[in-house]
Amino acid sequence: MEENGQAVTDNRSAAWDEYAQSRPQRRRTNAKGETTWFNWTQFPDHGPGADVLALKPGDIALDLGCGSGGNAAHLATLGMKSVGIDLSGRQLDKARERWPDVDGMELHQGDALAYLEDAFMVFDAIYSVFGAAWFTDPGLLLPVVHASLRPGGVFAFSQRPPVEGCYGCQASYIPKGPDEDPAIVKRWDYPPETWATMLQEYGFADVTAEVVRAPEGRRRIGTLLVRAVRRAA
Ligand SMILES: C[S@@+](CC[C@H](N)C(=O)[O-])C[C@H]1O[C@@H](n2cnc3c(N)ncnc32)[C@H](O)[C@@H]1O
Repeated sequence: MEENGQAVTDNRSAAWDEYAQSRPQRRRTNAKGETTWFNWTQFPDHGPGADVLALKPGDIALDLGCGSGGNAAHLATLGMKSVGIDLSGRQLDKARERWPDVDGMELHQGDALAYLEDAFMVFDAIYSVFGAAWFTDPGLLLPVVHASLRPGGVFAFSQRPPVEGCYGCQASYIPKGPDEDPAIVKRWDYPPETWATMLQEYGFADVTAEVVRAPEGRRRIGTLLVRAVRRAA
């Protein structure tokens, strides 16, 4: 697909396979010595954990763009039924290699929106960490997420905060080889208050949308963390 002379990648799974190749596996243990953990941010050992999702053992959670599966594996070890969906076969291969023996974790390859539309399942929580919720038009995704959550269920996602003034659909560049153009995928960026308004319009309540500050050090860009609850019927 050509847009303004730039080739927007029409094979998104191939683009994300490239990305998968460039990323290391998750560490074996975190700073506390835990073998599984939940991380909403781009920084190790930083930010809130799985409690954002308000799940209890036996609940079903869906990870939109689960990547190599670290967060989904953690929920499964806490006793949740943990489902991950991702476009990239390579990401899912990494997840299966890294987490071969985790009971209660189920991984599917495909587009998050199509999965939700076809699954006819109701989840206790749906979440996305720098995942498909960032790379899917919210005008399409939010109503489907809303319909797929039980009343009272949590939808939460994290991503980089927007650059001031750069709102709506943006280009993300995924580097390839030195002599190749990068893959280009679309993402959607909005300031926290716009996310809050959109979520309320689609029937979510108790919305919080705020930037988790970067840890002390040279890096300044924090993490936008958005959380909302499907209003009880
Ligand atoms: C930046 S990675 C984040 C992976 C993981 N959530 C993590 O925290 O490490 C983005 C992931 O979202 C997946 N993704 C992007 N768009 C998607 C879509 N529409 N449906 C399913 N997965 C998607 C990509 O394949 C990739 O694995």
